[in-house]
Amino acid sequence: MKIAIDGPAGAGKSTLARQIAEKLGILYIDTGAMYRALTWKALASNINLRDKATLYELAVATEISLVYEDGQLRVYCDRQDVTETIRTPEVSRWVPVVAVDEGVRKVMVEKQREIARKTSVVMDGRDIGLCVLPDADFKFYLTADLEERARRRAKEMVKKGYKVNFEEIKAEIWERDKLDSEREIGPLKVLPDSIVIDTSYLTAEEVVDKVLSLITEENDAVPVP
Ligand code: DC
Repeated sequence: MKIAIDGPAGAGKSTLARQIAEKLGILYIDTGAMYRALTWKALASNINLRDKATLYELAVATEISLVYEDGQLRVYCDRQDVTETIRTPEVSRWVPVVAVDEGVRKVMVEKQREIARKTSVVMDGRDIGLCVLPDADFKFYLTADLEERARRRAKEMVKKGYKVNFEEIKAEIWERDKLDSEREIGPLKVLPDSIVIDTSYLTAEEVVDKVLSLITEENDAVPVP
């Protein structure tokens, strides 16, 4: 079973993907965390983020792993736990610059395909249905109003103890979506076989129920508790 979940920032992809994976008993891979981990390392190494050759070398040489510990997904970069540090505003700001790079995407997509070759997965990101799992059993495209997505992101950041400026968050999300959608390699877009779900007026639970019912309707063999 391969399930692709794509969509812009704050549409609720990771919440959905985590719960679907848990309900179906399959692996969840947060591909955004992989791009974030590489960005964190690039910033920590002080390299020029627009230097393609160095960025490619860094991507090839970096070991990124997603590990479940006590039911929590933890992200390791070269064996260092970066789960929290990859969510800082600085990493969020620079990650689209790293993610636009062709060499980086080549390395990341290959790592993600490699994982999916071995096991059933739910993957969330931007180019999962397009590049990583073009033959996925299901391709979902989650979206929501910009205002609502910014509200969700602001709430998350306040919970983590950051001071937030709503208009700045909204502008940053808008900018990130633009970069993610307009890049040449692996852009974020609705595919002809995407199932589009607008989550603006739905609770996380309603989105999970909707997706699970779509999956089970089409696939009676899926073991849903
Ligand atoms: O989902 P997220 O916000 O953690 O993703 C971080 C960034 O990584 C975002 O700007 C888009 C990029 N990304 C990507 O280009 N391709 C993916 N498959 C996943 C994320």
